[in-house]
Amino acid sequence: MPREVVWVTGASAGIGKAIVEAYVAEGAVVAATARPSERLEGLAQAHENVLAFPADITDATAIKATVAAIEERLGPIDRAILNAGTHHPVKAQDFKADDLRALMETNLMGTANCLEALLPVMLPRRGGQIAVVSSVAGYTGLPTSAYYGASKAALFNLCESLKFDTDKAGVDLRVVAPGFVRTPLTDKNEFPMPFLMEPEDAAKRVVKGLKGRRFEVTFPRRFAYQLKLLRCLPYWLYFPLVARSTKTR
Ligand SMILES: NC(=O)c1ccc[n+]([C@@H]2O[C@H](COP(=O)([O-])OP(=O)(O)OC[C@H]3O[C@@H](n4cnc5c(N)ncnc54)[C@H](OP(=O)(O)O)[C@@H]3O)[C@@H](O)[C@H]2O)c1
Repeated sequence: MPREVVWVTGASAGIGKAIVEAYVAEGAVVAATARPSERLEGLAQAHENVLAFPADITDATAIKATVAAIEERLGPIDRAILNAGTHHPVKAQDFKADDLRALMETNLMGTANCLEALLPVMLPRRGGQIAVVSSVAGYTGLPTSAYYGASKAALFNLCESLKFDTDKAGVDLRVVAPGFVRTPLTDKNEFPMPFLMEPEDAAKRVVKGLKGRRFEVTFPRRFAYQLKLLRCLPYWLYFPLVARSTKTR
């Protein structure tokens, strides 16, 4: 039986690396993308079924060439996990449009570059799955999350909009919305992180969720649903409640 071909971006660390290892354990062959580094090469050397395809997701031309190179080497991509992303916590006093632009270039436009490369190959095949990694921080505004939350909210809206067409074309588009996962990205957070998970646990939930049928794969469920409820509150209640629970006053 042919092995599933999985493409993972942001594969060199954190959640992406754990997702690569989880799919290898599932018997897939994994194309691993991150910017060129020893840690990406090390991951490929550590696993027979992982091949490194180094690229920067902000470079649209390089990403198109990467998708073509993966398909030439491994065959059609069955599943793509667009996970690469970054975080830049900010307070109002330090807000800079340039910093927001830089973060959007990776989290939003980098993911868009991957979609632009994937959709023209998957849509005519009427098959394949694309999972875009957003975050529960995309649900609603949270302290220090002005750049990051905006980028992740944009990914939700982008995928919801595209899904109307991808559904008709037989391409399975999903959004993954993790809560807090212990990685180099969350090491930047200076506040206590509720329901903090290990990357291996997060990766297991991604693999399981993407086998299911839900558009949104979110975890830990209890935390995600608390945030979803918060977003339904009137603002006069929302702001004091979040400020108190995150100790920003
Ligand atoms: N950790 C959490 O609590 C959490 C929660 C919700 C959502 N998420 C999302 O999950 C994803 C992974 O987060 P993480 O916590 O695992 O972060 P991480 O440990 O910082 O890893 C980020 C990955 O993205 C890659 N990357 C960054 N910029 C890139 C670029 N321009 N081109 C290609 N690759 C790039 C990094 O590799 P190089 O630097 O080597 O290129 C690395 O492999 C992100 O989208 C993040 O927003 C994380």
